Amino acid sequence: MLKQTLLKATEAAAIILKENFNTSFTITNKEGINNLVTEVDHKSEKAIMDIIKQDYPDHYILTEESGEIPQDSMYKWIIDPIDGTINYANSIPICCVSIGVEIDGKMEMGAVYNPFINELFFAQRGFGSTLNDQIIHVSNKTGVATSCLATGFPYTYLDMENGPLEVFGRLIRNGIPVRRLGSAAIDLCYVAAGRFDGFYEHKLQAWDSAAGFLIVEEAGGKVTDLNGDYYNPYKHGIVATNGKIHDELLSWIHNKL
Ligand code: IPD
Ligand code: CA
Ligand code: CA
Repeated sequence: MLKQTLLKATEAAAIILKENFNTSFTITNKEGINNLVTEVDHKSEKAIMDIIKQDYPDHYILTEESGEIPQDSMYKWIIDPIDGTINYANSIPICCVSIGVEIDGKMEMGAVYNPFINELFFAQRGFGSTLNDQIIHVSNKTGVATSCLATGFPYTYLDMENGPLEVFGRLIRNGIPVRRLGSAAIDLCYVAAGRFDGFYEHKLQAWDSAAGFLIVEEAGGKVTDLNGDYYNPYKHGIVATNGKIHDELLSWIHNKL
């Protein structure tokens, strides 16, 4: 039943993304420079919330655009109505709907759907991860030097030691490919599917990673915070890998090679 609602909500949002893609919609700026939100983000989020509220009126909801609907419930839905909004606003079809379901403080189910290439990633704790119903696994690469990595950058630049550009520069200067797709949820799913060997980002929000981090873990990967400690989506820093390159990637990030 939970899964049904999750997939129904994901599909409803995906239809909205597709219907409005490459049309003229209102775009407004949130805090920071170029931190956009489109009319379609709001429409997508409303469609998702309506379905959840209809099936589970007493569940807690946390969304990117509408904030929190607190409830005294062990169930919490964490929603990113469009992950990759800048891509979407520029008619670049690298974006998705991402919804995670937490039960009693633990992520139990997640779906990430890019409707433009019809890729639905799904995971349920203990049951593995799938891409369009086919089981997926992380890659087998054993070293960062031969890996293909991904990262992203926050809307407001973080000036800190081993910050986003420093780490990016270090890897690029050493000839390691680091992609920047513009959707953290898709980046995480690509780690799960073995397309990327690792992904790191310094400042994500819960809705960016809620579904994706479970999809990586259930595909056999490893997810920690930037210090290599236990991860939950309320932490901002994330390192998600195939497991085999995890410690080495952490050393690259902290310049401790
Ligand atoms: C963003 C994307 C991007 C990441 C940013 C996120 P949004 O989410 O996931 O890849 O680098 O940190 O904020 O704004 O497109 O939902
Ligand atoms: Ca996002
Ligand atoms: Ca978003």
